[in-house]
Amino acid sequence: MKICCIGAGYVGGPTMAMIAKQCPDIPVHVVDLNQERIDAWNSDQLPIYEPGLDEVVKEARGRNLTFSTRVDDAIQESDIIFISVNTPTKTFGIGAGRAANLEFIEKCARQIAKNAKGHKIVVEKSTLPVRTAEAVKRILSSECSGATFDVLSNPEFLAEGTAIDDLLNPDRVLIGGESEEAIETLCSVYARWISREQILTTNLWSSELSKLTANAFLAQRVSSINAMSALCEATGADIDEVARAIGSDSRIGPKFLKASVGFGGSCFQKDILNLVYLCEHFGLREVASYWEQVVVMNDYQKRRFSEDIVKTMFNTVSDKKIGIWGFAFKKDTNDTRESAAIYICRDLLRERARLCIHDPRVPEKQIRQELLLACTDMNGHLTDKDRWLVENNISIAQDCYQAADDAHAIAVLTEWDQFKTLDFEKVHASMHRPSFLFDGRNLLDQEKMNAIGFEMHAIGKSLNRKNSPSS
Ligand code: UDX
Ligand code: UDX
Repeated sequence: MKICCIGAGYVGGPTMAMIAKQCPDIPVHVVDLNQERIDAWNSDQLPIYEPGLDEVVKEARGRNLTFSTRVDDAIQESDIIFISVNTPTKTFGIGAGRAANLEFIEKCARQIAKNAKGHKIVVEKSTLPVRTAEAVKRILSSECSGATFDVLSNPEFLAEGTAIDDLLNPDRVLIGGESEEAIETLCSVYARWISREQILTTNLWSSELSKLTANAFLAQRVSSINAMSALCEATGADIDEVARAIGSDSRIGPKFLKASVGFGGSCFQKDILNLVYLCEHFGLREVASYWEQVVVMNDYQKRRFSEDIVKTMFNTVSDKKIGIWGFAFKKDTNDTRESAAIYICRDLLRERARLCIHDPRVPEKQIRQELLLACTDMNGHLTDKDRWLVENNISIAQDCYQAADDAHAIAVLTEWDQFKTLDFEKVHASMHRPSFLFDGRNLLDQEKMNAIGFEMHAIGKSLNRKNSPSS
């Protein structure tokens, strides 16, 4: 058996590396159009940062794991072809801003159809709208080359930052399809290291919809706790205490109850908007608007945070230096797609603040690109003023101390562990007074920071807590 995967991104790369590691006898070929990305996968500087990934890649690369741009060859040689290309939200035409752009999926399917001989199992790894498999099947059979296909849906549930552990010890693997034989072939790959009870099989549509549903439910929990954080700030309740109290109810559970500056990442918003579009398509308006609120609440949370910064700093941040700690959408990744930090920084820039940004893993070029993109409207228009602000009012710091030096405020936007153990006396000494600290991740100890002299604002915590158990 031979496997290939089209798309060497955050999902395709780590997933295939894990399959190759666990199945040394199966050649795994990861292909991508992007030569630069492939070169990085073949180097010591992998294109994505993920704890534990280096070791997995090093073990399998050169043995049974190959990265290249030879897409046609990979298709011809493989029995199982994973499609893991990106499916971003459409920015144009029908469904713009909501529907998934399936252009790359269609191109892949056409390329597979053109190059395949014999029988192939085509596996959808990318998150797709329900019933995409139907379109993929039609495209595959359109070439009349004599090749035959089975299409399976095998969505990925790994979270960035914990991808290796999620792949090694998943809660479940989901495989949807019509052909028992094809399902069994794919099951036999995962069964090398995952118990059969954890491999769920469903029909194609249930599998496609389960992925969207899982992400919608997870995002909904974050929006729910963030909604309560606004109420906590108004009433003097503490969101972490509320989360602990409700999370110990086994029916609710403790995970995904961390209030934050807003969820980010390539999946949550995209998948919910996709779900909303799907519901509208089927005339389910109430269902669509129910789920849309999860995104509306997330936008509110991000906006609320940047507005709070401006209001607190005497209604003006113009020409004030603000240190930004963290730009990735969560810790332990270099991924910045839809990171809340992008929108907070854009809002503060437009208030004319001078931002000095430090993230341990995100390069300067990526930060500037994200900010330029966030300032660009749906028609691709970027104003001269916004461009000027990104070019002139953003600087990049090598560490948190440099970002905070001479600043009026610090905003913590990613929960990197190393931010917890800094010398906060030193940070405070280098800042203007009052020294504002806006913790968008509830990462730092509020009492300790206040004792040092910061004026700390955290999510879901009021400034002067009354009835605190420790007071
Ligand atoms: C992607 C999807 O965004 C997500 O919905 C799905 O669940 C998994 O796949 P990710 O791996 O994070 O997620 O995307 P990305 O890191 O952008 O990787 C996609 C790769 O596909 C890129 O390297 C891109 O160059 C490649 N690609 C894209 C192709 O090789 N061919 C194409 O036609 C299009
Ligand atoms: C998510 C899903 O968890 C994963 O199963 C799916 O395959 C892809 O989408 P990912 O986006 O990589 O994974 O990370 P996740 O840990 O889910 O975090 C998403 C966002 O929510 C991050 O910005 C994170 O900071 C935020 N979040 C998460 C919170 O604000 N609070 C929480 O309690 C949990």
